[in-house]
Amino acid sequence: MAEQTTEEDILLAKRIISAAERHDVPALRVLLKEGSANVQDPTATVATSPLHAAILACGKAEDGKDAGDKEVQTVELLLQNGAIWNDLNSEDETPGCIALRLGQKKIYDIMVEAGVRAEILFAKMEALGLGDSAADDEEEQDEVEEEDRPAAKKQKVSEEEIKEIQEVVEQQVLDDVSLDNRAYLKSQLRYKPGILLDESDNAVMMDWETQIMQRHAETINPKKGLKVMNVGHGMGIVDTAIQTHEPAEHHIIEAHPQVHQRLREQGWYDKPNVTIHEGRWQDILPKLVEQGVVLDGIYYDTFAEDYAALKVFFAEYVIQLLAKDGVFGWYNGLGADRQICYDIYTKVAEIDLYEAGFDTTWEDIDVPSGLHDKKNWEGTRRPYWTIDVYRLPINTFVK
Ligand SMILES: C[S@@+](CC[C@H](N)C(=O)[O-])C[C@H]1O[C@@H](n2cnc3c(N)ncnc32)[C@H](O)[C@@H]1O
Repeated sequence: MAEQTTEEDILLAKRIISAAERHDVPALRVLLKEGSANVQDPTATVATSPLHAAILACGKAEDGKDAGDKEVQTVELLLQNGAIWNDLNSEDETPGCIALRLGQKKIYDIMVEAGVRAEILFAKMEALGLGDSAADDEEEQDEVEEEDRPAAKKQKVSEEEIKEIQEVVEQQVLDDVSLDNRAYLKSQLRYKPGILLDESDNAVMMDWETQIMQRHAETINPKKGLKVMNVGHGMGIVDTAIQTHEPAEHHIIEAHPQVHQRLREQGWYDKPNVTIHEGRWQDILPKLVEQGVVLDGIYYDTFAEDYAALKVFFAEYVIQLLAKDGVFGWYNGLGADRQICYDIYTKVAEIDLYEAGFDTTWEDIDVPSGLHDKKNWEGTRRPYWTIDVYRLPINTFVK
């Protein structure tokens, strides 16, 4: 049962938020011994965390209000005490979004670092079986054990509640197939001029990305006669660009039946040196590894898959399939609807890639300015790109 909020709790929350706002580090240090760095004042009209309040109170850098030591220490103290980097206020802004909007570069960089640390820690906990999903499994296990002792009073989530949660998740996937790779692969696609849509109206691919795809193709396939592989055909933009350099071998892995149909209609199965592998990369790549395939260039751009999938792709497969001097490229689109998320995932990826044995070079490409205009996303579920610069990764093995 949720704990009751008392007058005292509200007063403490107000005092913590106020100390954060005033950048009063000594007072905040004392108050955080009693209360959380993530308190909310339930009586406030605008929901805000202490971190949001502290950053908002810095003011605009362009007005000569560059954050100084006090401001920096306040933000750092809140983060050290567990303030959440991606908490949203009622304006749908994270603390980092506010720092960016105010031009507070120093604070923004601190928030990016905090996000990177949190994401890496979260991924490590998941890998060790200590994350949310592992906790759920353990709860289920506890549940069964408690059921063996009928007299014991059940305090954990009941089977019925677990079923209810599963039903909600299934409903969400039915509503938005991009939340689940297998659901997406079973869904109906629509090819329209300049855009490929899934059954839930998500834009799977759009032709404004042509310049980005062409550059990716050049980086993984810079000259004639190489052996290259692209994972995810979509609208065929990157594969068409790869073809201009006449590869000796051009492997395409694609899992959606309607995309296979399109590949067939457009004659890709008959092109010299092209091999289409029908299926999910998760099923195809182990076979290619077994066959001892070695490639000069590999590109990855799938859909309805998360960062964890990309990490498996490079840490388990690219390291086995890529030639010593080969180049690996991947579509860097995660978090591209919020600058701070994009900056954090870009750094997390760079760290993970390095751990897997890859150096990363980044090339910045300006995206068309019209992407900020909602009109250009009409008919799609949501704009998946709202930031100004695409950071194109080029990965080679660490020398
Ligand atoms: C964003 S599109 C690729 C766009 C492509 N780069 C282009 O230039 O048009 C993603 C593609 O990956 C495919 N795909 C999604 N999940 C996959 C998986 N697990 N294995 C292989 N292909 C997958 C989708 O069906 C879709 O064709």
